[in-house]
Amino acid sequence: MNKLLLIFLSSFLVIQSVNGFDYHDSELESEESLSNLYDRWRSHHSVPRSLHEREKRFNVFRHNVMHVHNTNKKNNPFTLKLNKFADLTIEEFKSAYTGSNIKHHRMFQGPKDGSKGFMYENSTELPTSVDWREKGAVTEVKNQGKCGSCWAFSTVAAVEGINQIKTNKLVSLSEQELVDCDTKQNQGCNGGLMDIAFEFIKKNGGITTEDNYPYEGIDGKCDASKDNGEIVTIDGYEDVPENDEDSLLKAVANQPVSVAIDAGSSNFQFYSKGVFTGYCGTELNHGVAAVGYGSNSKGRKYWIVRNSWGPEWGEGGYIKLERGIDDPEGKCGIAMEASYPVKLSSSNPDEDADVKDEL
Ligand SMILES: *[C@@H]1O[C@H](CO)[C@@H](O)[C@H](O)[C@H]1NC(C)=O
Repeated sequence: MNKLLLIFLSSFLVIQSVNGFDYHDSELESEESLSNLYDRWRSHHSVPRSLHEREKRFNVFRHNVMHVHNTNKKNNPFTLKLNKFADLTIEEFKSAYTGSNIKHHRMFQGPKDGSKGFMYENSTELPTSVDWREKGAVTEVKNQGKCGSCWAFSTVAAVEGINQIKTNKLVSLSEQELVDCDTKQNQGCNGGLMDIAFEFIKKNGGITTEDNYPYEGIDGKCDASKDNGEIVTIDGYEDVPENDEDSLLKAVANQPVSVAIDAGSSNFQFYSKGVFTGYCGTELNHGVAAVGYGSNSKGRKYWIVRNSWGPEWGEGGYIKLERGIDDPEGKCGIAMEASYPVKLSSSNPDEDADVKDEL
């Protein structure tokens, strides 16, 4: 009786707590138990796979399980989990989810236009921590799907942020409008650059709402009729001086900022929680948004980064990326391609019209 209870308790304790999908150490012991684990993972994430694919996918899954398991045994400030990417190879993951080719698009653009200045240059007495989510300037985490449109999500997150800061209204805005209509230099699901998208929004006279022009995750035809809905405007954008985390800190203290990172590593693929100190390069391939910063109880500093892979990846869709590393480019290159929209007025054109109507 007691022995049974003990077994029950101890097995309870070894269950890996990885938010959502948990596994037990004993499930890794044999080929058969691993195969059962794979089936359990598939039904948890409802991943449709043909019978023909199963063998291949299972082999990838087994490899990834061992990577997650062994990494979590190390004393890292972050942990990994078996998320929805667990039977994709790193190559498949990179081509499906980090296809923004930021570096490629920057090269076509030439060097940044430094003439625009950096309005937060003299920003001083910065708070020790900032979280724009708590201030109501960040919408629910979104999901780009298998479309290299992260540049649009990164752009929109920053515009939603400054719009809330200036107007006190949090309005979810349309990534699909950028994917379909900002096609002169940006390339929809094949990638793009946030700076070009800010310029497009300015020239276009604004960006419409998510409700009005919902996300589809495929390259579509620009629907000009949807432009007539509620519009949020910006006055332009500025680049944060590159390779300088202190400048990035000044910007993020003032508003959510679009940043580009290198998200193409296994540790990034399976990130679960904690301050990410794992390997990543600086070949910028993914657009995200820095929506805050802080430090943990051990004094380890981080950026709060909003991703667009849905809420089940990472910490509810976010990653805490190590901050203040001994490299000016920043962790995963976060300080290399940071920019933010400038919005001067505290209202949008439609609201101005409403005010006039009232008068
Ligand atoms: C920052 O301060 C310097 C020195 O006073 C000044 O020349 C510069 O224009 C200021 N920058 C901004 C963006 O206000």
